[in-house]
Formats: sequence, structure tokens, C-alpha cells
Amino acid sequence: MSSQDSRKRIAVTGGAGFIGSNLLLHLVPRYPGYLFVNIDCLTYAGNMGNLTTIETAENYRFEKVDICEFEALRACFDKYEIDSLIHLAAESHVDRSITGPAAFISSNIGGTFNLLELARERTANGRPFRFHHVSTDEVFGSLGKTGYFTEQSAYRPNSPYSASKASADHLVRAYHKTYGLEVVTTNCSNNYGPYQFPEKLIPLMIRNAISGKPLPVYGDGKQIRDWLYVQDHCKALDLVFHEGKAGETYNIGGHNEIENIEIVTSLCRILDEILGGEPRKKLITFVKDRPGHDRRYAIDPTYIKEQLGWEPKHTFDEGLRKTVQWYLDNEAWMESCTSGEYQKYYETMYANR
Ligand SMILES: NC(=O)c1ccc[n+]([C@@H]2O[C@H](COP(=O)([O-])OP(=O)(O)OC[C@H]3O[C@@H](n4cnc5c(N)ncnc54)[C@H](O)[C@@H]3O)[C@@H](O)[C@H]2O)c1
Repeated sequence: MSSQDSRKRIAVTGGAGFIGSNLLLHLVPRYPGYLFVNIDCLTYAGNMGNLTTIETAENYRFEKVDICEFEALRACFDKYEIDSLIHLAAESHVDRSITGPAAFISSNIGGTFNLLELARERTANGRPFRFHHVSTDEVFGSLGKTGYFTEQSAYRPNSPYSASKASADHLVRAYHKTYGLEVVTTNCSNNYGPYQFPEKLIPLMIRNAISGKPLPVYGDGKQIRDWLYVQDHCKALDLVFHEGKAGETYNIGGHNEIENIEIVTSLCRILDEILGGEPRKKLITFVKDRPGHDRRYAIDPTYIKEQLGWEPKHTFDEGLRKTVQWYLDNEAWMESCTSGEYQKYYETMYANR
């Protein structure tokens, strides 16, 4: 980077994943005066095909780097003189964390530690560095029939995934308390919307329902999640990154508490309306529950609303209809994910860069 270039330089880790892609598609056109560096090692969940509309933007760069590789990460931070970070890179799928927790420990804890160390290194000469850590409401564990997670809720993670995210949250907090690093953490509820990898509940059910396959619902299907349309989450991240108070955490949620079975039934109804044919509800099949499956998550988003004026714009019905339509319009994207075809995109587009 030229020393003449005084732009803000923001690393976005995990920018080829579901939320990261939606975030970069939101931020890159909105802030032409910043430089965004997408740092992603492209696991099965990273898809460069999500970012084609911004890949040649003057204020956007991509670096294929694993956040577990400290020296490679440092070289990348030095190359672009990174001065702030929105950290989303993580292993994110709870089921995978049950069958293979090791990658969750390395990326979610070890990778976050590497980024914190780099941030600390970069502030050594008194320069500011803003560290925005993106986390989940799953760190708080499971709720009973009533009550909400607030910023004061105790940490009670139940899966290897949520425990790894909780560990990362604690490290981020400690770097603020111990070293005075300028950190903000956001804990968000379940997201849904475009570009979500089809192993997650909503795209998985859409895909199976379109092709007439069984719709596997865990246990009795009465687990409750608090759903948020991904673009509402991205607006909250933009706001917290710019205006959140250092050392604070913000809970982000849409007050959309819905049982899994109700979501699957709604998806069937929407698809029946659009595509016609036999009622897809008949495809619902109850399967053995996930071990340690949390019963209910619900966020109280009062703090972010009062402090920063954030509120979700999409109702659940609007968001779900938009999501179904997006997957119907992008069946090729979904098939490329499930066949692994999308992994060739990076090789074709970036191999010689
Ligand atoms: N999806 C949700 O509902 C949700 C809700 C709250 C918080 N979050 C958090 O938001 C973040 C993004 O979630 P998502 O759903 O977009 O996940 P995702 O699995 O879709 O994407 C994760 C991205 O991180 C990259 N990545 C993983 N390990 C890496 C490593 N070691 N080095 C570099 N890149 C790596 C992957 O290639 C992928 O592009 C995660 O930190 C997750 O914990 C997700």
C-alpha cells in the first residue's frame, strides 16, 4: 500500500461465507472511501461466487489466508496496513462441531487469538485499531419457556461450536480489559437469507422441498430460535462497527421467536403457493434429535435499539418470502454448493492473480 493512501483499511475475515458475503455486498458500494480486504481461507462454506458484483471494485481486495496461520496473517495485515477488523471467520455449523470439534477450536479460538495478537502488535506504537468481533446468542445456552438473553446474561454454551465462540468472546473481552484494545462484540440470533450454505435449516428445507425429498425435522420440532433476516444483521454490524462503544457488547435479534416445525410448515406453504403441486407438508419427517440441542433462544435487543437506534426492517414473513424467492431464482448456486462445483470458481478466477 502506498503511504499516500490514507484510506481506512478494514479487514473482513470470513467475507466469502454467508453473513460475510452479505456484509461486503452492503459495505463495499456504501463506503467507496475505505479499503476492504476480505480474508478467507475458503473452507467448504466460503464461496467466491457470492462476491462477483464487487470483485473488481477499486476499494475491495481478496486474500486467501487461514486465520490460524499467524505469519501469513501478519504479512496480509502489513501489506494493506490494516487498521480495523470485522471478524466473522469461523466454523459455524453446530452439527459439524459435534462430529469434529477440532477445527472449531483451531479456527474459532486459535484464529481469534491470532487476530487479537496482531491487533495488539499494531497498536504498539500508539496507533488505534478497532476490533469488531461477530458472535452468536448460542454462547448464552438455552432458555426455558420465558425470559430473554440480555448483554448481562451468563455464558452457558452447550455445544462445541458455542463453547468455541464463548471462548473467543472471553479472549476479546480480556484484550480490552488487559491491553485496552478497542473492541466491540455483537451476539446475534439465527440469521437467514441469500447465500446461506444449504446445510442450515432454511435453505436445506427449501432445497429438499423443491426436489420432493423428505424434510428432516429434529426431535419434536418445537425448538425455538429468534430469526433475523441477514441484511438486517448487516445493517446492525455496520452501525456497531462505526458507532459502538469500545468494550461494549450488543445483542442483535429480531423478536421473531418461531418453532422449527412452524418454519418448515411456512416454507411448504410458500412453495405450494408459488410452485403448486402436491402439498409439501407431507414431506415432513421427524428424525432423532441433535445431542445437547438447545430448546429456546430469544434476544432482548433493547440495548442496541436505545443506544444506536437499530431495529430490523423485515418482518419474518417478508424475509422468508424473499429468501424462498432468492433460492428459487438461484437454483444453480444451490446446486453448485451441494456438488462442490463452486470450489472451482476460485481456481478459475483467482489462480493467476
Ligand atoms: N449464521 C448465523 O445464524 C450466525 C448467527 C450469529 C453469529 N454468527 C457468526 O457469524 C460469523 C459468520 O457466520 P456465517 O453463518 O456466515 O458462517 P459461514 O460458515 O457461512 O462462513 C464462514 C466463513 O469463514 C471462513 N473461514 C472459516 N474458517 C476460517 C479460517 N480458519 N481462516 C479463514 N477463513 C475461515 C469460511 O471459508 C467461510 O467463508 C461466524 O463467526 C458465526 O459464528 C452466525
